[in-house]
This record gives sequence, structure tokens and C-alpha cells, in this order.
Amino acid sequence: MEKIEIEESKTTLWVGDSAEVLKQYPDNHFDSVVTDAPYGIEFLGKDWDNNTGAIEVWKECLRVLKPGGYLLSFGAPRTYHRLATNLEDIGFEIKDSLMWLFGSGFPKAQDVGKRLAKRDGTEASENKYDGWKTGLKPAHEPIVMCRKPTKLTATDNMVEWGVGALNIDATRIVADEGDAYHDLKPGIVEGKKHGIFNEKGKEDLYAHKMMVKNDMGRFPSNVIGEIEEPYQKYFYHPKVNRKERHIGLDVNAIDKISQSTMSEHPLWDESMGTDINRLKNKIQQGVANANTHPTIKPIALMLYLVKLITPPNGKVLDCFNGSGSTGMAVKEFGGEYVGIDLDENYIEISRKRILAWDSK
Ligand SMILES: C[S@@+](CC[C@H](N)C(=O)[O-])C[C@H]1O[C@@H](n2cnc3c(N)ncnc32)[C@H](O)[C@@H]1O
Repeated sequence: MEKIEIEESKTTLWVGDSAEVLKQYPDNHFDSVVTDAPYGIEFLGKDWDNNTGAIEVWKECLRVLKPGGYLLSFGAPRTYHRLATNLEDIGFEIKDSLMWLFGSGFPKAQDVGKRLAKRDGTEASENKYDGWKTGLKPAHEPIVMCRKPTKLTATDNMVEWGVGALNIDATRIVADEGDAYHDLKPGIVEGKKHGIFNEKGKEDLYAHKMMVKNDMGRFPSNVIGEIEEPYQKYFYHPKVNRKERHIGLDVNAIDKISQSTMSEHPLWDESMGTDINRLKNKIQQGVANANTHPTIKPIALMLYLVKLITPPNGKVLDCFNGSGSTGMAVKEFGGEYVGIDLDENYIEISRKRILAWDSK
């Protein structure tokens, strides 16, 4: 277990197993948990991806979260049910499932027609299974929203613990300038009482829901989109770009090394001679020069989720930190961040990315 503090951004990073590291923290300590759990599909052959987050980790999350506090975790479409039922079985209340929509996925399906044609030595177009494949193009990731139970009402809980409701106004969606945003509420608009009337001409109080203009933006929904059209009513953000992925890391460091300068590099040793590839391999293995994490999330998306469930200056935990995307979002948000990952390389990448992150 190794602890790294980044004081200027109120960040603590840990190398270790979250089930163990979290024992350092008292009960009811964190305001929110925002995380991206392993998908339980051994993604790209990674060992850490063999479950949807260990039960011991989730139990610790329940203990260290404040009563009424929210937890949001990404899952995979194929294994989300395990993530959600595990959280429910250990005592969280499932409140919603959010959908993150994106357009950048590519289908990894097997082509049955082509395989058959190859096996039979024929043209794919000649067999009757031409066009049959084994899967769809991935275009969404589910996010489970759950809450630590509390005996108090949401209002009393907010007063007692500062958590227990969602910060709707901080996450409203501003789509276009001049767009009329509406909430469904009973009320008086521009001096006129609006309502829905029943057949006797009397106001129907149950149906008395009406559109009240809200200049702060649309009410956030449980769909989040990467695609601007036709989803512009939803929170929109671009996908992770190269700069965001590698910020703080000297991604070109390897390209800068030449045969004439390689012996000056601290990782060079005599046995390498002028074999530049041996030096490059050694650098790639040990030093965090590029963000090689396979499941990086966009900072704007993480910031949106953090804002939704965390009070201003609150304490946020990511028990599956990866390359630190939640920590960068929390730095921008202005709260305290604790990020934990089993892999020391990912923590070093996170340290550099969080230090370098400046949204401007
Ligand atoms: C899906 S990735 C998170 C990626 C992250 N959202 C990002 O943007 O880089 C999950 C991470 O959880 C870590 N992990 C898995 N089990 C863990 C455990 N028990 N304790 C701490 N970290 C763990 C893995 O090493 C992996 O980096």
C-alpha cells in the first residue's frame, strides 16, 4: 500500500486494493462515490477485469459513504446486471440506471457468412448465412445510480449530512441559446394561472402539471450523450481527445531518443549497445510516458456525474481510479479526491494527469 498526496488539488492517490485501503477511512466519511468498475469480461486480457468490482470493495464503499450518499458506477452492457444486483445485495438502494450513449464504438462481431465461406472454400455471397453476424455495434454504457440507505427523509438528510438529493440546477442542459427550457410544475406563469380542467370545467389538481419556463436549462435526464444530434436535449460532451488522454505525460519522449543520444538516457545500460528498440521497450514497460489505460472516460462526463451527486467542496471517492479521470474532474469541481488503484503505473499516470489538468 503506497500513499501519494497532491496538496494543491486536495488529492490522495493510493496504490493498493480498495478493500484494504478503505479500512484507513472512518465510517460515513465520503460525500459521494463516482467510479468505473471493472466490466467482468477480462477486457483486452486484463486480469483486473475478472469481476464487476469485488464485493469486499463495495462493502467498504457502503461503510465509508455518508448515509443517503450516492454512488455512481459505469458497467458493461453484458455484465451490468451483476454489478447492480451485487450493490443491491450488500445493502445499497438502486435509484436509477443512466445510459451513456456514444458513437465511437466499433462492432467486434464474428461474420458467420464469411467464416463459413472460408471453411467451405466458397464466396460469402454464395452461402445463405451471408450477412449474419454475432453482435451489435456498442453504442451505450450503463451507469448504476444507488444510494446508502438512511432513516431520514431526503430533506432532513440534506440538513443532517449534506447529501441525499441530486444537484439538478448544477447539471441542467443548455442546448441552444434562445431555446425555451421547461419543467413540469403547477404554478402561475406571467400572472396567469395555468392548469388542466376536467369535463365539468373544474381544475384537475392531479393533472395540474404545466410547463414553467426555466432559464437555467433543461432538467437533466437519465440519458447522457456523446452524439450531439439528435440527442442535443441531453448532456453532450466530445469523446476523449489525445490531449486529454496524455496530458502531463511526455508521450513523445520515446520518439525524441536517437541512436546518438540513447546512452545518455537513465535507463540505458551497456548491454543495450546501440540497440535502440531494447531501450524503447524498457522505457515503455517501466515509466508512465503515455496513458495506456484501455477504458479512459472523458473528463467532462466525469465532472457532470460528480456535480450531480456531490455537495460543493465535497469528498469524492473513486475506488477503481484507473488513469485518474475522476480525479481530474474533482480538481475542476473543487472538492477533495481519494483515488485507489491496484496498479502503480496507473497511479503514476493519474498523478501526472491530475497535476497537469487545467480545464482552461
Ligand atoms: C474500468 S478501469 C477505470 C478507468 C478509469 N475510469 C479511467 O478513466 O482511466 C478499472 C480500474 O480498477 C482497477 N481495480 C480493479 N480491481 C481493483 C481493486 N480491488 N482495488 C483497486 N483498484 C482495482 C484496475 O486496475 C483498473 O485500472
